[in-house]
Amino acid sequence: MQIGFFDSGIGGITVLHDAVKMLPNEDYIYYADTLNVPYGPKPKDEVKKYVFNAIEFIYQQGVKAIVVACNTATSITIEELRAKYNIPIIGMEPAVKPAVEKNKSADKRILVTATAMTLKEEKLQNLITKLDNEHIVDLLPLPGLVEFAEKFEFNEQTVLPYLQEQLFKYDLLNYETVVLGCTHFSFYKDMFRKLLPPYVNIIDGNIGTVKNLKRILEEMNSLNEGSGNITFYNSGVKIEDKAKLDNYRKLFKRLDITNE
Ligand code: DGL
Repeated sequence: MQIGFFDSGIGGITVLHDAVKMLPNEDYIYYADTLNVPYGPKPKDEVKKYVFNAIEFIYQQGVKAIVVACNTATSITIEELRAKYNIPIIGMEPAVKPAVEKNKSADKRILVTATAMTLKEEKLQNLITKLDNEHIVDLLPLPGLVEFAEKFEFNEQTVLPYLQEQLFKYDLLNYETVVLGCTHFSFYKDMFRKLLPPYVNIIDGNIGTVKNLKRILEEMNSLNEGSGNITFYNSGVKIEDKAKLDNYRKLFKRLDITNE
C-alpha cells in the first residue's frame, strides 16, 4: 500500500523529498490543495474544511499512513483527524523542542518562523509556555515565502530582499537557532543561510517526521511495499500533464541543492 502526503501546496514536497531518500521502497501520493493555498491567512474554520476534504480524498485512494506535511493544518486538525481515521496520521509542529533543548548559551535567543495561523494557534502557544521558561523564543510569520514558493519563485534577486527585510528586524547576533516551522520555508534554507550569522542553526522538522513515519511503518510490519512511485494530485485532480509533473520533479532537484 502507498503512503499519503498532504500540504496546502508544494511545501510538503520538502518532507516527501526526505521520505523518498530514507524510504525509497515505498509508493507515495502527494496531494497539494492548490485551489485553496495559502492556508495561513485564512479563517480557521474554512481551512479545517479544506483539510478534512483533502484527507478524506487521500484516505479513499487506499493508503497505509498519511503525513500531514503542513504545520498549519496539523495545528488545527491533527487530534480530530486521528480520532476519525483508523490509520496512522503523522503531523508536524515547529521544532521548538529540539531548539530549546539544544540551546547552549542562556543569553541566546530562538526565532520561530511559521504561518500566522500556526504561530497564534493553541498548539504552539502551549508548547512554548511549557518549554520556554527563559523567554528566549520570538515568533515571526513569513507569508511571503509561501507565496513565492507557490509561484515556483526561487530566484535570489526576488526572494532575498523580502527575507532580509523580515530577518533584519532582529539583532541576529543574539540568536542561536532559527526554526523553519512551515514546510514551504525549507525550499529557502540556502537563503536563510546566506543572511544569518554562520553559527546560527537552521532547523526544520522534516527528518524527524520521516523518522517517525519509518518507525510507525516498522511497527506495523509494512515497510518496503513499493518502488518509489509518486502520484501527484492538485485539489483532488490527478496530475497527468507532463509540464506540471516536470515542475514537481524540478523541486526535488532544488532540494538536493538547498539541503546540502
Ligand atoms: N506549508 C504550510 C505549513 O507548513 C502552510 C502554508 C500555507 O498554506 O499558508 O504550515
